[in-house]
Amino acid sequence: MSTPERQRRIYLDGARGRKPTVPIDHEKLEEAARRRVSPEAFAYIAGGAGRETTIGENRRALDRYKILPRMLRDVSGCDTSLSLFGNTLNSPVFTCPIGVLDLFHPQADLAVAKAASTVGVPVTFSNQASVSMEECASAMGDGVRWFQLYWSKSDELVASLVKRAEDCGCRAILVTLDTTMLGWRIRDLDLAYLPFLAGRGIAQYVTDPVFQELLKDPEPELEPPKITLTSLSNLYQMSKRYPGSTLENMKTRRAVEAVRKFIAIYSRASLSWKNLTFLRQHTKLPIVLKGILAPDDALKALDHGVDAIYVSNHGGRQVDGAVGALDALAEVARVVKNKVPILFDSGVRGGADIFKALCLGAKAVGIGRPFAYALAVDGERGVAELLQNYQADLRLTMGLSGVRSLSELNPDCLLPKSS
Ligand SMILES: Cc1cc2nc3c(=O)[nH]c(=O)nc-3n(C[C@H](O)[C@H](O)[C@H](O)COP(=O)(O)O)c2cc1C
Repeated sequence: MSTPERQRRIYLDGARGRKPTVPIDHEKLEEAARRRVSPEAFAYIAGGAGRETTIGENRRALDRYKILPRMLRDVSGCDTSLSLFGNTLNSPVFTCPIGVLDLFHPQADLAVAKAASTVGVPVTFSNQASVSMEECASAMGDGVRWFQLYWSKSDELVASLVKRAEDCGCRAILVTLDTTMLGWRIRDLDLAYLPFLAGRGIAQYVTDPVFQELLKDPEPELEPPKITLTSLSNLYQMSKRYPGSTLENMKTRRAVEAVRKFIAIYSRASLSWKNLTFLRQHTKLPIVLKGILAPDDALKALDHGVDAIYVSNHGGRQVDGAVGALDALAEVARVVKNKVPILFDSGVRGGADIFKALCLGAKAVGIGRPFAYALAVDGERGVAELLQNYQADLRLTMGLSGVRSLSELNPDCLLPKSS
């Protein structure tokens, strides 16, 4: 759907008395999502690390740059297409990997995969998905998909996940580097809530043959189980989410074993540059490093022959007091000098934000929390609408700024940063 068409559709629907179900305004969207999900789910998605200053800094970095529109440039045909990882895309937008999406909608990753595929936006399957990559892939036809990897303590599991991603048609492996441990997330800590302990967000693991093998060597219990209403409800919920019969899963405590194994192996704090060789040996797909912020890390990534760099601070969920992602992008792009594509996310809330990131060197921009809010509000349709809105907003921002194609976006389209 082209920009004026999308805009016209919204206004025409309005003339017939129908307002958009997914609010266009980000704050209203967030509030609509908050009303639909549990307090724990909302804290999990909206929160960040520590005092959440990085979340604010992401916005401040984006707001400090100003667009400088140019006039009389015949912007009647505005082209936002590009080629990335062997695919032609209609816009420089993709969905970020977001785990545990069943907190927000029962259809979870499946709804997002279908919506993204309908709109023509690449979807990133999270390593912490609620629905397996195979199930999502089979529901989205030729839609472009990428896989985000968390490097666990088991190299065999890493190799298996990567192989599965290849087999189900993923076109890139995005390795998330900034989550070798979970950030200090105050909202979640105050509620003493971590969704994985209820068996949520581990679909990629429980459907994995290597993980199933690992389960044959069970993890010891940390402390004897206390029977409370909450622990019984958790046992039931996690047994229901585990493949097979709920009753059988409760009797065998299979789901509990799986959660315990997951907790024991899911992240590897010792991960270092050396490990990348292993990944290169196990896949021919482009390898993208997610979470790069420092220019010296970007240079190391180039030295290690990665195929793309993904500038992100995980939406402020990992390090409190960190650099705003857009400020990091400007510096990283300066040293990368177009040698590899750069992806970007963290704090993007509209077309102008995407425009600014593209001007500063990003090739494609990830939509994070907003699509999960849209999922909570209106499932698959909500996500599709949100993605179309972002695409339309970007096209309009480009056209109204005198830019006809992505190749014309550069730092000169912005005023130098003010403090
Ligand atoms: C609820 C939630 C879950 C996330 N899960 C993952 C994940 O599984 N893997 C990952 O690499 N990043 C994950 N992220 C980070 C996103 O990929 C992305 O970097 C971030 O959401 C961008 O910031 P923004 O949402 O403020 O735009 C998650 C973010 C949120 C909010």
